[in-house]
Amino acid sequence: MNTAIIGLGNIGSQLATNLTAGGQSIIVADRTLAKAEKLAGKLGGEAKPMPIADAISKADVVILAIYFDAIKELLATYRGALAGKIVVDPSNPLAPDGKGGFKKTIPADQSSGQLIAALLPEGAELVKAFGTLGAESLGSGVNRLNGLSGSGQSRCQAHCGKRLFACQSRRC
Ligand SMILES: NC(=O)c1ccc[n+]([C@@H]2O[C@H](COP(=O)([O-])OP(=O)(O)OC[C@H]3O[C@@H](n4cnc5c(N)ncnc54)[C@H](OP(=O)(O)O)[C@@H]3O)[C@@H](O)[C@H]2O)c1
Repeated sequence: MNTAIIGLGNIGSQLATNLTAGGQSIIVADRTLAKAEKLAGKLGGEAKPMPIADAISKADVVILAIYFDAIKELLATYRGALAGKIVVDPSNPLAPDGKGGFKKTIPADQSSGQLIAALLPEGAELVKAFGTLGAESLGSGVNRLNGLSGSGQSRCQAHCGKRLFACQSRRC
C-alpha cells in the first residue's frame, strides 16, 4: 500500500515525520513541488516528493492534511483520480469566533465528514483521523494512535492500519 500526504504544514509534516521515522516509505506533496522536496530532503530517502496529481495516482491511501475548504476544492479537481482510494481527512470545520474561541463554519446540524464523503467518487472511502489533537501532540508518541472513524475505517485498519497507525506508534 502506498501512502501519500498532501499538505505539508503542521499536521502533514508531523505525520510524514512519524511515518518515515517508523521506517515507512511515503509520498509527499504540497501546492508546490519545492515545498515537498524541502521536507523530503529533511526526512531522507523514505519520503518521495511528487506533484499532487502523481501523488494521488500512485497512492492507495491519500491523507489530505489541508483545511476543510481546500479539501473541497481539491476534490473538485481530483475527484476522478480518487476512485477506489482510501481518503484520510484530519480537517475540522472551525474558525476563530472573535472571542478567543472557535466556531463551526458549517451549520450545526451538518457533519464535515458527511459533506466530504458526499464529494468522493464511487469506491473511495473516507476515514476521519488525526483531527482530534493538535499537531504538537501528534508528535508525542503517546498520542499517535488518534481517533479513527468513517466509512473506510475497517478497510483502513485492515490494509493500512499497520502503516498509518501501528507505524506511528512504533516509537511510543
Ligand atoms: N494544526 C493542528 O494542530 C490541527 C489539529 C487538528 C486538525 N487539524 C486539521 O489538519 C488540517 C491541516 O492543518 P495544518 O495546521 O497542518 O495546516 P497548515 O499548517 O496551514 O498546512 C497546510 C499545508 O497544506 C498546503 N495546502 C493548502 N492548500 C493546499 C492544496 N489545495 N493542495 C496542496 N497543498 C495545500 C499549505 O500550503 P500553503 O502554505 O502554500 O498554503 C500548507 O503547506 C486542517 O484541516 C486542520 O483543520 C489541524
